[in-house]
Amino acid sequence: MKTPVEIVVTGAAGHISYSLLFRLAAGELLGLDQPIVLRLLEITPALNTLAGVVMELNDCAYPLLHKIIVTDDPEVAFQGVEYAFLVGAKPRQQGMLRSDLLEQNAAIFAAQGRVINQVANPKVKVLVTGNPANTNALIAIKNAPDLPANCFSSMAMLDHTRAISQLALKCEEPVTAIKNVIIWGNHSCTQYPDLHHAKVNDSEALSLVEHDWYIDQFIPTVQYRGTEVIKARGQSSAASAAHAAIQHMRTLVYGTAPGTWVSMGVASDGSYGVPEGLVFSFPVTIQDGQISIVQGLELNEFSLEKLRINQEELIEERQAIKHLL
Ligand code: NAI
Repeated sequence: MKTPVEIVVTGAAGHISYSLLFRLAAGELLGLDQPIVLRLLEITPALNTLAGVVMELNDCAYPLLHKIIVTDDPEVAFQGVEYAFLVGAKPRQQGMLRSDLLEQNAAIFAAQGRVINQVANPKVKVLVTGNPANTNALIAIKNAPDLPANCFSSMAMLDHTRAISQLALKCEEPVTAIKNVIIWGNHSCTQYPDLHHAKVNDSEALSLVEHDWYIDQFIPTVQYRGTEVIKARGQSSAASAAHAAIQHMRTLVYGTAPGTWVSMGVASDGSYGVPEGLVFSFPVTIQDGQISIVQGLELNEFSLEKLRINQEELIEERQAIKHLL
């Protein structure tokens, strides 16, 4: 039998994890011949709820689930991990200012970054899902100085797959006909879903749809999809977010297909004028585990303006938590 791979999930008693954990245990990340150890981190008050989730995981008798470790101690949770899903974060509560939310989550991700730096496998792949995901990833990177920044990425995959699905519906094509949509910027309503480089089969996507649909329907639908799901369901996206987290991590493991890319929040190397170090969603390719930002895409004035607005928002977020960097 292969040696089990250590995977940590934070916020393990939360909604996203309720879908994510079962899919990980079923082998959806690393395949049906790779046993795993699930290390589950929660805050102390949520350990009771987590105990119920663990009962259900055990009840499934997953052949690949070698062991489950439950803890409220980050040093135990991150010990030797190769894959880290940072899902746990404080939700925004009534009356809470955005700056308070940033500050409280920043403290969580600073602490976790430090522990990951000390005890994780040096080749760890860390996916930040908890919001504000880009800035939380930035904080974790800055607090893990011994690890390369590209061990960390933030999730834009749900926005990316939302964009694919909206375009496929509009064109009455299967989602497999769509490639190379881009989500630029922040995982917030400011994000820029860009179709200028997207293809439907081998045709330019923007030659197949009306310009007004692209500007007035497609962009806001993708930007505000999370809000619409909350309105309809009374809770935020969970199963689709868990699916996106697995897709994101699988892409890091298996790479992107030739001629295609995905969107991911990564530390900028200055590409497209985005200030170095800012965690910004770019189109990226992945080969042999190495993330490369796609170079040389032409951006018109409309796109440049959208990128600029995202940069400004992320710089503002960075400014609000600069004492933790
Ligand atoms: P949830 O509120 O159901 O679960 C969050 C869990 O995190 C809770 O069980 C809480 O106890 C735990 N937690 C809080 N502080 C923690 C800490 N210091 N260490 C470990 N665990 C901690 O939220 P849900 O629906 O599971 O969402 C999780 C996060 O993912 C939220 O921040 C949400 O906004 C974000 N999200 C991000 C998406 C993306 O595309 N990047 C999409 C959907 C959600």
